[in-house]
Amino acid sequence: MNNNPIGIFDSGVGGLTVLNALSKVAPTESILYLGDTARVPYGNKSKEKIQEFSYEITKWLVSQGCKLIIVACNTASSLALKKLQGIFSIPIIGVIEPGVTAAINATKNNKIVVLGTHATINSDIYKRTIKIENQTISVISRACPLFVPLVEEGMITGQIPQSIANLYLGDIKSTKSDTIILGCTHYPLLKDIIKNTFQSEITLIDSGEVTAYYVSQLLESKQLITDNKKVEINCFVTDSVGPFKNIASKFVNVKIDSFNKIDLK
Ligand code: DGL
Repeated sequence: MNNNPIGIFDSGVGGLTVLNALSKVAPTESILYLGDTARVPYGNKSKEKIQEFSYEITKWLVSQGCKLIIVACNTASSLALKKLQGIFSIPIIGVIEPGVTAAINATKNNKIVVLGTHATINSDIYKRTIKIENQTISVISRACPLFVPLVEEGMITGQIPQSIANLYLGDIKSTKSDTIILGCTHYPLLKDIIKNTFQSEITLIDSGEVTAYYVSQLLESKQLITDNKKVEINCFVTDSVGPFKNIASKFVNVKIDSFNKIDLK
């Protein structure tokens, strides 16, 4: 038993999709969420910067007593996870491997599409991880950078996001891939738009959702589950609380106990 909170971090609001998923599969766990809103987006930053920011955040979450940390940000999972795991002794879980496992289990024709930020796609981590598991799977990777600001603006339905999805994904349709990994925190909010683009049976893998499930299993196997009577969900951001709070109401269906601004330096 361990009653300490689970830490979740992201470059901004997107990781709230993971917070949401985790509070569904592990409703008795307290969560401490950190969104690095002062430095978002990570998706077009260098590996060095992403590692530096991820280190600062992880150090802070550890100092707050987190028993396990989820790197909800796909970009940070792609470029900083291994480094963090080498430095800190608590379990640190990224979203790549659970997403890959779910996609490999889902595909029937061995054709997987991976969508993510520039940094995630350029790291090639999804493709490499898939190939380690199964050489015969073909992988098409595509950066969809405009999806993030669309979601931040709440533009998740209608013509504008649909046109952008068609532009990014239109040519992938002919590959007849049957599984898509949504390799970015924000993309699950565009599920309907992405599905429409393909207009055929396609399985979308929400990497945050499968990671939340994976973590709930891990807590049990490592005997880290809580017997807390009082569940607390507290959010911290590195810039003003207001805009985060507004967007949070669109992403999250659970009660958040507090919103706070912190300075990581
Ligand atoms: N959280 C990032 C990710 O999942 C998307 C937003 C950003 O670029 O920082 O890759």
